[in-house]
Amino acid sequence: MKLKPYICGTYFQNTKSNIYMEFELSEEQLAVKEAARDFAQNVLKPGVIERDTEQRFPAEEIKQLGELGFMGMMVDPKYGGSGMDTVSYALAMEEISKVDASASVCMSVNNSLVCWGLEKFGTEEQKQKYLVPLAKGEIIGAFCLSEPEAGSDATSQRTTAIDRGDHYLVNGTKNWITNGSTASVYIVIAQTDAEAGHRGINAVIVERDMEGFIVGAKEDKLGIRGSDTHTLLFNDVKVPKENRIGEDGFGFKFAMKVLSGGRIGIAAQALGIAGGAFELALAYSKERETFGKQIAKHQVIAFKLADMATDIEAAKLLVYKAALDKDNGRDFDQSSAMAKLYASKVAMEHTVEAIQIHGGYGFVKEYHVERLMRDAKITQIYEGTSEIQKIVISRGILKD
Ligand code: CAA
Repeated sequence: MKLKPYICGTYFQNTKSNIYMEFELSEEQLAVKEAARDFAQNVLKPGVIERDTEQRFPAEEIKQLGELGFMGMMVDPKYGGSGMDTVSYALAMEEISKVDASASVCMSVNNSLVCWGLEKFGTEEQKQKYLVPLAKGEIIGAFCLSEPEAGSDATSQRTTAIDRGDHYLVNGTKNWITNGSTASVYIVIAQTDAEAGHRGINAVIVERDMEGFIVGAKEDKLGIRGSDTHTLLFNDVKVPKENRIGEDGFGFKFAMKVLSGGRIGIAAQALGIAGGAFELALAYSKERETFGKQIAKHQVIAFKLADMATDIEAAKLLVYKAALDKDNGRDFDQSSAMAKLYASKVAMEHTVEAIQIHGGYGFVKEYHVERLMRDAKITQIYEGTSEIQKIVISRGILKD
C-alpha cells in the first residue's frame, strides 16, 4: 500500500476502510481559505467587539458573505450554490471563526443543517422554492430541533405536527434556535405519531410569515453574542404536506444525518476559534517584553505555544478527515463526532491559555482573546454536547 503525504508531512489512516488519504489542499481550496481570511480580517474584525458588546447580529456582513457564495458553499450551482466540497467549507468556517464565531454559526447552520439537508433530502419543488434563495444568501435558514425538554434526548419531541390530510398542524415551542429572528425558512422537527417513537417524527418547512408562528424571547448569552438565538412558538401553524422533508416518519433520521454534517462545521468553528487565539497569543508573545526579552523567549511561554500548536494541528487533522470522509462518500458520523469532540476541547483549553499569555491584557475586550474564550464554550454544547459525541463515538466502536 502506497502512503500519500499530508501537507505537513504526516500520514493519516482511515481505520475503517484501511485507505490512506492525501490532505494536500488544492489551489481552489487554498483560494477559498484566502478569500475567507481576507473577509474575516478586513470586514468582520473592525466591528466584532462592538457587535459582541451590543449583541448585534452581523446582518450586513452576512449579506456580503451570501454575495460571495459563502452561505451555500456545498450546494450545486444549479440551485444557486458555489458547488464546493466540504473541505473548502471547513477551511472557510475556520478562517471566519478565527475572528467572528457569531457570523460563522449563522453560516454553519445555513450551509450544513439547512442547505445540505434540503439538497440531499428535499423534493425538486422544495429545492426550487427554498434552497435556491438560501444558497444564494438572499434569505437565511434555521434548524429547529431543541426544545425546553428535548435537547440531547432528541427523540423526546413535544412539538407536534398533526396530520390533517393536506397539511400538518404544528404546535409547540423550540428553544436555543440560531438565526431565530433573522431566518425566513425554518426546518422544524416535530412528532406526528407519539406511539411510533423516532419513526413518528417528521421534518417540515415552516415559513416565517405562516400564521401562528411567533418569534419569542432572545437569549442573553455568554458567547456568540452577535448570533441571533431565540425561542420560537408554533400555535396551530398550518404547514402544507408538500413541506415535509422525506417520507412520513423520516424526520429523526433526517435530523441525525444533517447534524453529522453540521458537526463538521462546528468542529471547524472550534478549530478556527483555537487558531485565532493562537495567532493572537503568538503575535503578542513576540511583541511583549519582560525581564529584558520577548516573552516568547521565556521557555514557560514557548512551551505553551508548542502545546497549542500541536493540539491545533491534531484537531485540524480530525476536522479535515471528517470533511474528506463526507466528500468521498464514506460514513462520517464517527469522524465528525470525533472532530467536534476534540476541536471543541482544544478551543476551550487554548483560548484560556491565550488569555494567560496576554496576562491582564487578555482580560479586556480590546485584545479579542476573552471573546474567543467565551465563544469557545458553546462549541462543546451545540449540535450535540461533548457527552453526546462520546455516545456516537462509543456506539460506533462497539458496533464494529
Ligand atoms: N444517521 C442516520 N440515522 C441515524 C443516525 C445518523 N447519524 N443516528 C441515529 N440514526 C437512526 C438509528 O439508526 C435509529 O434508527 P433504527 O431504529 O431504524 O435503527 C434511529 O435513528 C434512532 O437512533 P438511536 O436509537 O441511536 O437514538 P437515541 O435516542 O439513542 O439518540 C443520539 C441518539 C445520538 C443521542 C441523538 O439523540 C442525538 O444526536 N442527540 C443530540 C441532538 C443534538 O445534537 N442536538 C443539538 C441541537 S441542534 C443545534 O444545536 C443547532 C443550532 O442551532 C446550532
